[in-house]
Amino acid sequence: MDLVTRHEGRVERVKPLLSEEQIATRIRELGAEITRDYKDEKVVAVAVLKGSIMFYADLLRSLEIPGLTCDFLGLSSYGSRTTTSGVVRLTTDLSNAVEGRHLLIIEDIVDTGLTMQYLIENMETRKPASVRICTLLHKPANERVKVPLDYVGFTIGNEFVVGYGLDYGERYRQLPYIGLMSFEDL
Ligand code: IMP
Ligand code: MG
Repeated sequence: MDLVTRHEGRVERVKPLLSEEQIATRIRELGAEITRDYKDEKVVAVAVLKGSIMFYADLLRSLEIPGLTCDFLGLSSYGSRTTTSGVVRLTTDLSNAVEGRHLLIIEDIVDTGLTMQYLIENMETRKPASVRICTLLHKPANERVKVPLDYVGFTIGNEFVVGYGLDYGERYRQLPYIGLMSFEDL
């Protein structure tokens, strides 16, 4: 069933795209793959705030990597609510140095790729042993720069999605599923 909300003179419609069950199943698969790849390594799992919070919490519980530690960073890119300007800024930095450690960056969605390009370049200057990207969603149709994505949950079309951490103007992050967002005039 669609979720229909009136907000600031418009009707917002969220049409379910990926259910809780579909997300949970895919996360178990990703978790098994990542566990195999890192086995006994020292890995820093980095959550890119805020969009990756749900994915991060669920994915980490599917990993069996005893040497895993957690860290967080915040990024913001200027732009409208549904497009990226490409001007990215680090708003919250990691709390620990990552030199010599394997970095696993956990992101909600890669759209143009500009945010991940900025982040990879920023992380490389800190001399980690390696940097890998795990993104729940990938929208290849909108790609402007090619970034290596090591783990991808789902590839989706060029539509705006919300829920399970993803927002529209900071709302809808709390939905347990992912839905397609559309608008109608009142
Ligand atoms: P980029 O275009 O790859 O740089 O993506 C930048 C950021 O825009 C992502 O990390 C998300 O936070 C946000 N974003 C891109 N597409 C969507 C979407 O469909 N829904 C919600 N946020 C999105
Ligand atoms: Mg994001």
